[in-house]
Amino acid sequence: KILILDFGSQYTQLIARRVRELGVYCEIHRPDLPAGEIRRFAPRGIILSGGPASVETEGSPRCDPFVFDAGVPVLGICYGLQLLAKLLGGKLDRSAHREYGNAEVEVLTARGPFAAFHPGERLKVWMSHGDRVDALPPGFEAIGRSGNSPFAAAAHTSKPFYGLQFHPEVVHTAQGKAMLRAFLFTDCQVSGTWTMKGFIQEAEEAIRRQVGAEGRVICGLSGGVDSSVAALLLHRAIGPRLQCIFVDNGLLRQDERAQVEALFVDRFHVPLKTVDARERFLEKLAGVTDPEKKRKTIGREFIAVFEEAAREVQDAGFLAQGTLYPDVIESVSYKGPSVTIKSHHNVGGLPEQMKLKLVEPLRELFKDEVRVLGRELGLPEEMVNRQPFPGPGLAIRVLGEVTEPRLALVRRADAIVQEEIRTAGLYTELWQAFAVLLPVQSVGVMGDERTYESTCVLRAVTSVDGMTADWARLPYPVLERISTRITNEVRGINRVVLDISSKPPATIEWE
Ligand code: XMP
Repeated sequence: KILILDFGSQYTQLIARRVRELGVYCEIHRPDLPAGEIRRFAPRGIILSGGPASVETEGSPRCDPFVFDAGVPVLGICYGLQLLAKLLGGKLDRSAHREYGNAEVEVLTARGPFAAFHPGERLKVWMSHGDRVDALPPGFEAIGRSGNSPFAAAAHTSKPFYGLQFHPEVVHTAQGKAMLRAFLFTDCQVSGTWTMKGFIQEAEEAIRRQVGAEGRVICGLSGGVDSSVAALLLHRAIGPRLQCIFVDNGLLRQDERAQVEALFVDRFHVPLKTVDARERFLEKLAGVTDPEKKRKTIGREFIAVFEEAAREVQDAGFLAQGTLYPDVIESVSYKGPSVTIKSHHNVGGLPEQMKLKLVEPLRELFKDEVRVLGRELGLPEEMVNRQPFPGPGLAIRVLGEVTEPRLALVRRADAIVQEEIRTAGLYTELWQAFAVLLPVQSVGVMGDERTYESTCVLRAVTSVDGMTADWARLPYPVLERISTRITNEVRGINRVVLDISSKPPATIEWE
């Protein structure tokens, strides 16, 4: 396995993605991981990521010098190269040589990450750095140069230490993967055999080791991909000692509860307890219109309901969560304090006072790996590709007070949106498509009758990770069908409007 030390680059996760795509297992750790832990991790190679800091700045992140005594190959990328140069006795230049964007690197020597190329070859690469190396440390030579950086790629003449000024992990570096492949397979001598089937087997064993022969595990199902995959994996590992709990908070989409029950109970025979808490949630939400107050109310109530249900499970010692790798990394890397835009509510974040130990079988996986795993476990495609649905459910898509009649309106409108988007073959292209009910009524005419009814918003966005999003340019015929069907089929809505805001400055959900 490969150790990646994270100096805070926005691309660190991409490095891990590329390494795993090559079938090599890797983990991202904090930059200053101490020697003892590096030894325990026993990596076959170490990659130092990029980062926003300058090596010359006081307090900028450093790695334990043991990295260079561990007896394994080291590849420094961008900040990683500068740090390597600094620690091993080179010189940096902070003068105005900032370089961002496409650049060309000429191969000087076909070694290390450049092993697959030949001298004189020109490679398209992606640069993004402030400082650059001015003088290499003793024992190093340039193996590639660009117009701006005489040491765009460097290697030690006898040890397997390499540095790249550019980013091989981004797609703009056309042959980046070949560079990583050469480093991994030739220098680190790992084999690309890490696959999902292997992962399943290891994960099952790890679950059984953690839980023991008797232990029982509780798992909250949300209807989303992550908790579903976690539940199926646990079920394979410990069978009926898994107890799933699904809370029907009344804020679900049309048929959602029935779908979850059909899938888990009828198809996979997973022990499932559905808690009907619809009334409880509605009571707590009565009169609440402030978005944050809504979210907090739902979060609190969920925990209360879940705890009650969990307490009824005899001898439960563990709580399973579908935590993914990005959540794990978030908590270890160096990020400044951020403002709360919305307090997110998930099945996660459940109370410590439950005294249950956490089982997190997906904590090493990225989202798309979870989808692959889901398919491997037999999860149907419509579940594997599910668009995200927020924890607080339809409540944050009913602007103003949440009442059952208003929920019913948005639920029916949303079902039409889902159906038409699927029929048009757009479901997987879009990050999300849904309906929002506004607290606005307007005048309309139906037959010879005047109507005074609610307005519904169609929100459809494309996005890679939900952090930024663009409004989807849906074809007019699709817009037309959605609008016609909603106004015809949903009594109480007489107007459909289209949201054409991107994120930022808007957010994807309206509350
Ligand atoms: P926003 O509205 O912040 O949403 O642009 C970004 C993405 O997150 C989803 N979302 C949530 N997911 N719990 C969740 O699990 C929540 O409380 C929550 N709120 C928003 C939203 O659907 C979008 O995909």
